[in-house]
Amino acid sequence: MDNRPIGLLDSGLGGLSIAKKVIEKLPNESTVFIGDNAHMPYGNRTKEDIINLTRRSVKFLLNNDVKLVIFACNTATAAAMGTIEKEIEPQIIGVIQSGALAASRTTKNKKVAVVATSVTVGSHAYEKEIHFRDPEIEVTELATPKLAPLVEAQEEHATNLKVVKESLAPLKGKDFDTLVLGCTHYPLIEQEIKEILGEVLFFNGSPRVALHLKEILKEKQLLSTENNMNITFID
Ligand code: DGL
Repeated sequence: MDNRPIGLLDSGLGGLSIAKKVIEKLPNESTVFIGDNAHMPYGNRTKEDIINLTRRSVKFLLNNDVKLVIFACNTATAAAMGTIEKEIEPQIIGVIQSGALAASRTTKNKKVAVVATSVTVGSHAYEKEIHFRDPEIEVTELATPKLAPLVEAQEEHATNLKVVKESLAPLKGKDFDTLVLGCTHYPLIEQEIKEILGEVLFFNGSPRVALHLKEILKEKQLLSTENNMNITFID
């Protein structure tokens, strides 16, 4: 038993979708969330920059005595998790494995598309994870750098639809049956993405991350008996 909170970080408000799932699936757990709004988007930054900014958020979480850290950000998972997990004691859970696992289990025609930030696409982290599970799956990765800032700007539906349509134009004519929303901001414009792409199956890591978290807490006997806070801190 361990009543310390779970720490979550993102570059902005996208990661709140993961925090919400954690609170839903593990109501006894307390959470501390940090969204580094001042430095978003992370998706166009250098790896070094992302590592430094993520370290800063991790420090904030550790100062809040978290027992485990969730990188509720694909970009931080792709660019910084490998480095930072060697530096701190609490375990880190990223979001990429979970989304890749769900997509590779679901595709029927073995064609998956991934939309994500430029950094995540440039790392080919999704392609590697999906191919690790099934090398026959064809993976099309598309960088959509305008989408996370669009979500943060909280625009009207018509504006969202226009930017989503332009951003997803390169996917037109590709016959994938499964789309990975490889940025935690994108579920917030899922409606607009659906209007543009129609009948494909959508995945993001959020639901599986919460399940994975539960398994780890159980296994390490870190489950909490009472929820005494859920704090959101947007820098
Ligand atoms: N929400 C973040 C992700 O999942 C990135 C958004 C950004 O800062 O570019 O990749």
